[in-house]
Amino acid sequence: MNSKYIYIKSYGCQMNVYDSDRMKDLFKNKGYEVTDDINKANLTILNTCHIREKAVEKVYSDIGRIKKIKNKKKMKLVVAGCVAQAEGHEIKKRSSSVDFVVGPQSYHKLPDMISEGVEEINSDFLQNDKFKNLIYNSSKISSEFLSIQEGCDKFCSFCVVPYTRGPEFSRPVEDVLKETKKYASKGIKEIILLGQNVNAYHGTCSNGKSRDISYLMNKISEIQEIKRIRYMTSHPRDMNKSLIDAHAKNDKLMPFLHLPIQSGSDSILKKMNRKHSVADYLKIVDQIRSVRPDIALSSDFIVGYPDETDKDFENTMKFVDKIKFVIAYSFIYSPRPGTPAQYKDNIELNVKKARLSALQSLLTQHQANYNKSFINKDVEVLFEKKGRHENQFIGRTIYNQSTFINSKKNILNKIMKVKVINSTNFSLECQI
Ligand code: SAH
Ligand code: SF4
Ligand code: F3S
Repeated sequence: MNSKYIYIKSYGCQMNVYDSDRMKDLFKNKGYEVTDDINKANLTILNTCHIREKAVEKVYSDIGRIKKIKNKKKMKLVVAGCVAQAEGHEIKKRSSSVDFVVGPQSYHKLPDMISEGVEEINSDFLQNDKFKNLIYNSSKISSEFLSIQEGCDKFCSFCVVPYTRGPEFSRPVEDVLKETKKYASKGIKEIILLGQNVNAYHGTCSNGKSRDISYLMNKISEIQEIKRIRYMTSHPRDMNKSLIDAHAKNDKLMPFLHLPIQSGSDSILKKMNRKHSVADYLKIVDQIRSVRPDIALSSDFIVGYPDETDKDFENTMKFVDKIKFVIAYSFIYSPRPGTPAQYKDNIELNVKKARLSALQSLLTQHQANYNKSFINKDVEVLFEKKGRHENQFIGRTIYNQSTFINSKKNILNKIMKVKVINSTNFSLECQI
């Protein structure tokens, strides 16, 4: 009987989800079984996020909860991820219940750390070393995340990623293809390429040449079992012509682009050190819409950035109204330790909240209108999981809309043309 159980909780972005999957693979290889029940676990890993203060507070409150479980049973607690990198040393000092701390570029060493009793590794950014020592086993049914690029050299003034994930690194083309083929052989149909700056990808080929993301996508699309390719998160400065062309020429590349802008005001973009203007962004949108008119656009916004005026915010609202994103994420500015912008958090909380709520209702309205426009149309959906109700299946359209359907037949991991019969703000209801 198996007596070793591991529980992993992931916070933050998809790259953390990918890392958590790899940690599961490493420990499964050591005889552990993955559990959803923390009370059963001998080893608990919190794979943490440092992007906003709230994300960090959540980690500390979870550590407090776990402390009580640890009082009752023998369990080791690991804090991994971006909080571990940023303030791992403080966590260990503050919380006696934390046994191990490991940063995002060192977690391949975790099984050895635990068996050898090394309590803390989080200082070095050895991305290449890490990827070489991971185990890649698909645990999913139809869609897999795949990190191809890590870290960031852009240093936007509000953002911790360059400090928590380190400098920009791209995995070699062959490594990515090998991992994709492994997933493909297990039945995976969709690959979602991940990176904090995924379109800055510049991995080396076997002949030593540097290749960009569109080259990689074209290589992946040669793998027959793979039917869908997605990628995130892109930066406007790295939207090169070949990537835009790929949206016209590569049939497996889905017509969806997540391209954060953060603000619709040039003066705020300048203060954020984004190094592009609103006009630059609009130009990219024009270019991509001219080759792929149906492209679904998505973005991220920060409101209440230091010195953001009513006029700046109005420009963001006008910008959003102009583009009509099919989905977007918006956040109140959170001052982060180690970042240049942290010292001047001068917008009142009630102003920030009012701006967030105005922006979110506009974004939701656009999303709802977009989804409504699909009623009575046929859409192509990849069904990825079972829903909560009996005979319910959940999938995504080529435009990444969440879709649910009733079917007596098992349609898991099938790509099907189905009819949209109803829509909500955030999803489509379909019929076979
Ligand atoms: N690499 C991506 C963003 C990664 S972080 C890019 O360049 O756009 C994901 C999102 O979190 C960001 O797009 C931003 O909207 C938000 N974010 C990052 N730092 C933040 C902060 N200090 N306060 C509030 N939101 C933040
Ligand atoms: Fe952060 Fe800017 Fe890098 Fe994105 S591009 S990860 S927002 S520093
Ligand atoms: Fe958070 Fe680290 Fe991702 S800070 S958003 S988990 S890169």
